[in-house]
Amino acid sequence: MTRRAVVRGVGHYLPDRIVPNSEFEKTLDTTDEWIKARSGIERRHFAATGQGTSDLAAQAAKNALAMAGIDANDVDAIVVATSTADNTFPSAATMVQHKIGNTQGFAFDIQAVCAGFIYALTNANALILSGQADRVLVIGAETFSRIMDWTDRSTCVLFGDGAGALVLECADGDGTTDDRGILATDLNSDGSYRDLLYVDGGVATQNTGVLKMQGKEVFRHAVEKLAQTADTALEKVGLNAEDVAWVVPHQANIRIIQSTAKKLQIGMDRVIVTVQDHGNTSAASIPLALSVGVAEGKIKQGDLIVSEAIGGGLAWGAVVLRW
Ligand code: UT7
Repeated sequence: MTRRAVVRGVGHYLPDRIVPNSEFEKTLDTTDEWIKARSGIERRHFAATGQGTSDLAAQAAKNALAMAGIDANDVDAIVVATSTADNTFPSAATMVQHKIGNTQGFAFDIQAVCAGFIYALTNANALILSGQADRVLVIGAETFSRIMDWTDRSTCVLFGDGAGALVLECADGDGTTDDRGILATDLNSDGSYRDLLYVDGGVATQNTGVLKMQGKEVFRHAVEKLAQTADTALEKVGLNAEDVAWVVPHQANIRIIQSTAKKLQIGMDRVIVTVQDHGNTSAASIPLALSVGVAEGKIKQGDLIVSEAIGGGLAWGAVVLRW
């Protein structure tokens, strides 16, 4: 018998306000055509005033718990991947814990920017495999609209707000790749690239700051590193691209998603794409895409899924799981 972290529920939450590309034409030297052609983004959601990352996360968590058919207090641990926690501290995760009414577990945040959900899944898997938790709520949630420079057309048109959540539960497997659950993970980072994508504020400056990105350079690294980490994760358990039912990638740019799929030799008919509707929601993009993929009836029990992401740090990685 092998302990496995199996997905029992998935859910998401998007704030009500939908902002189409055309909104930016009013204040910036940009066009709907440019944004669509260069990124694939058509619209994104922005949180309302007073609506924090933990609010989005708590809603997504409630939806995932409802699908799993379990109570908030049945969860042993809550892991929130975010770079936009409501406050410097406490963690968004402890706020979520309170908002969903969990009084018996432990909660903490993981900060690996756009790769955050991959890091969070990997850590949640480790908690389950080590026996420290039987049920873990893993959430990706962001309000990147709070860290945009609204005068910088090269960044502010790209990002959006939202949250997605998974309930992972311990189950016995046979130790083969036919098992449901997380089968392999691969994490990487290289801090020498920190200047390619960062926020210019924080504790050191005593203000929140705004996002700065050398988009072309990040793009170049993304295309090179994403297929590599996905391949590495698959190879760790002797699987390859032919075994994959769905690629559920980080949703930053349709051109990155397409070139990664091409490098993996996986057709776009096997890729879940939500970037057109959500923009780049950083750590929330993969759980949002998983939730949409399930809601649309694409992702089904038993499907082999590979997810990959890259973001500020640079930090990147991949997870292979059987749904
Ligand atoms: O999730 C974390 C990881 N982040 C990413 O993966 C993002 C990676 N990067 C990208 O997605 C792309 O690099 C961008 C979408 C950010 C930019 O696309 P690009 O094809 O690399 O464009 P570029 O930065 O080379 O800019 C081309 C031109 C520039 O004008 P010049 O210098 O050629 O005259 C920009 O000033 O497009 C201009 N530009 C715009 N034009 C209209 C930049 N932003 C805009 C805009 N509207 N919003």
